[in-house]
Amino acid sequence: MLKRFVDYIDVRLGIRDILAQNLTKYLLPRNVNVWYTLGAVLMTLFALQFTTGILLLIYYVPDSAEAFASVEKIMNEVPFGWLIRYLHAVGSNVIVIALLMHMLSVLFMGSYKCPRELTWLSGFILFNLSLGLCLTGYLLPWSQLSFWATTVATDAAGGIPIIGDELVRFLRGGPMVGDATLGRFFALHVMGMPLALGLLIGFHLFCVRRAGISRPPFGSGYEPHPEPEEFKHQEHSGGIPFFPNYVVKDAAVISFFLALLVTVTFFAPQIFIPPAAFEAADPFVTPPHIKPEWYFLWAYQTLKIFPSEFLGLAVQAALMTFLALLPFVDRGRERRPAKRPLFVTCFVLGILIFVAISIWGHFS
Ligand code: HEM
Repeated sequence: MLKRFVDYIDVRLGIRDILAQNLTKYLLPRNVNVWYTLGAVLMTLFALQFTTGILLLIYYVPDSAEAFASVEKIMNEVPFGWLIRYLHAVGSNVIVIALLMHMLSVLFMGSYKCPRELTWLSGFILFNLSLGLCLTGYLLPWSQLSFWATTVATDAAGGIPIIGDELVRFLRGGPMVGDATLGRFFALHVMGMPLALGLLIGFHLFCVRRAGISRPPFGSGYEPHPEPEEFKHQEHSGGIPFFPNYVVKDAAVISFFLALLVTVTFFAPQIFIPPAAFEAADPFVTPPHIKPEWYFLWAYQTLKIFPSEFLGLAVQAALMTFLALLPFVDRGRERRPAKRPLFVTCFVLGILIFVAISIWGHFS
């Protein structure tokens, strides 16, 4: 009965053909490595984030007079509310870790190069959108940490000449972080940004699928391709099927990340959730040690290093623009790390500087 129903649908829509083309007949390079699983890890983590976010919305109240109490209720009264909240909060940090690893692996293997410039660009916008989701979500619990971290973050925009003060007012919806700020951050966090993120993930996957996965630039048989003159899907004849072979590898790395998420959630949530997150926001008491989340520390510290805030912002903007446009600047065909010594030196130095400035920001 079921088979006849499936056959009926299949004759009309060719579902089996779509599945075969995208699963068993979709071949990946033979030497595909574990770093190529990070995209699937990110999709899983975002799916979990959407699920826990929707569950939190059932009890959360986006009003500055009630937000903190509603989060306390989720933590103390709602069955498993604490688990959902911690999974969501810790999950955002694990997503940033996975995003950085995905980005670094794509950089190291030169997969951002032609014809994958649009894959890189859409990924780079996804990275920034994800950070925007973290920033807007941070305010919602209306704790001391939320309030003051958002005050510091929005204050930074004041360093831009001429429009700075107006921009700060616009971001906050008034002179200070308050109810209007919570309203706009809430709208962006639960609707605007997730919608944009979903659409952009769709475009990113479309780019990946159309161009075809890049071949890892390792091993004796690897030779750089000349720049293509017309569209060509990169085939990997003789490669391994996506399903079941590669899906098993995907599942193993996804399980590792989920295990990491669950371990931190149960045993050490304080790594990502400091004590100031458990005090209600008080605009009249500035806590002594408010720091942004670890992934914004580099930006926070650069603003302090330069003599003017504007100079710090300009350096950050130049750096981000350079990274966004990297595939259009670095147009050489070579992808093998061993044959790109200048790039690898900058890559390693960049990571070291990022870590050093972040640690400095943490202790300053
Ligand atoms: C929401 C976040 C993201 C999701 C869900 C996602 C998903 C994916 C998936 C499933 C793949 C194919 C498998 C793989 O290589 O991992 C991929 C490849 C790729 N991603 Fe992402 N990605 C995200 C963010 C980013 C970011 C931040 C960048 C870089 C700025 C980026 C750049 C790329 C590039 C260049 C490829 C092609 C790799 C190749 O063909 O070798 N992605 N992504």
